[in-house]
Amino acid sequence: MSTTPTPPLCPHNPDRRALSGMRPTGPLHLGHYFGAIKNWVEMQEELESYFFVADWHALTSDYADTSGIKTYIDEMVLDWLAAGLDPEKSVIYLQSAIQGLAELHLILSMITPLGWLERCPTYKEQQQNIAGKDLGNYGFLGYPVLMTADIIIARARWVPVGADQLPHLELSREITRRFNSLYGEVFPEPAARLTPSAKCPGLDGRKMSKSYDNGIFLRESMEEITPKVRGMLTDAARLRRHDPGNPENCNLYPYHELLSSPDERTEIRAGCLSASMGCVDCKNILLQGLAAFLAPIHEKRTALQGKSGLIRDILAAGLEKAQREYSLTMDAVRSAMRLKY
Ligand code: TRP
Repeated sequence: MSTTPTPPLCPHNPDRRALSGMRPTGPLHLGHYFGAIKNWVEMQEELESYFFVADWHALTSDYADTSGIKTYIDEMVLDWLAAGLDPEKSVIYLQSAIQGLAELHLILSMITPLGWLERCPTYKEQQQNIAGKDLGNYGFLGYPVLMTADIIIARARWVPVGADQLPHLELSREITRRFNSLYGEVFPEPAARLTPSAKCPGLDGRKMSKSYDNGIFLRESMEEITPKVRGMLTDAARLRRHDPGNPENCNLYPYHELLSSPDERTEIRAGCLSASMGCVDCKNILLQGLAAFLAPIHEKRTALQGKSGLIRDILAAGLEKAQREYSLTMDAVRSAMRLKY
């Protein structure tokens, strides 16, 4: 048997490299922004950052109706840019365009024990909770295997994700360790960089999600948002204007934590607890905060929207940069596994 040595990888420091992805499932809402994008935008200043559109991951559950994916891809990248991702600083690409990724996924599927995947809490949960979709498919079970391939093909250390992704990250670490112990230390072990847990619940207090119809979307105008905020339930025990309320029991208050200044928050808390401020006034402060937050995002979005071919060009440039790196990874994988026949 030949013993081709593993070629040295292009020297890079894995501790300086971050990668994350997002499924193109619809327009971005505040939950996406505060749960992920804000962190990504900060991270691109600090680390060599790769961000990709996880269109294959969208297929794991939405395989039956693929009609929306193409539009969602373009729209999501536009939202990313409007919210501050900068293609000069980050590498932005489309998952399905990467050569070698499907191969790495297949290789990892060989070394991943079924039990690890079946025990994954998100797998069990989603199988039970997502009504109207049959998630008994092989690809859905392998979701974390594909996610592992996404991460390690970039030989990235840091994976900025929300807490909901931690079980997947744990599996990625295990699969990576397994690969390295079988074939040699090709990959750095990935680690989660948790998004500081600023909670942005939906308008009804549940998780913000398109499928719950409880979101505020980054692209929405204040005309669209205002009635949504006006209709939000506040502290249900505060029946009349002069009853004192409790911010802890209010669907609105968490938004003040994200969008209002510390001084405003002090005023709001005191006003609510003493009934000197009513819910209408409190909502008006929030609407002002939202308008100020969204104005620069809308402005950027409008400017970018006019540039035809922009998204395609950004994805093409990102693909080229990523592919250069990832081809080196795949070469190392094939060598380490003695698959160069
Ligand atoms: N599973 C992630 C989510 O739903 C998206 C994702 C796919 C991802 N591949 C990834 C995130 C790799 C981080 C790294 O949010």
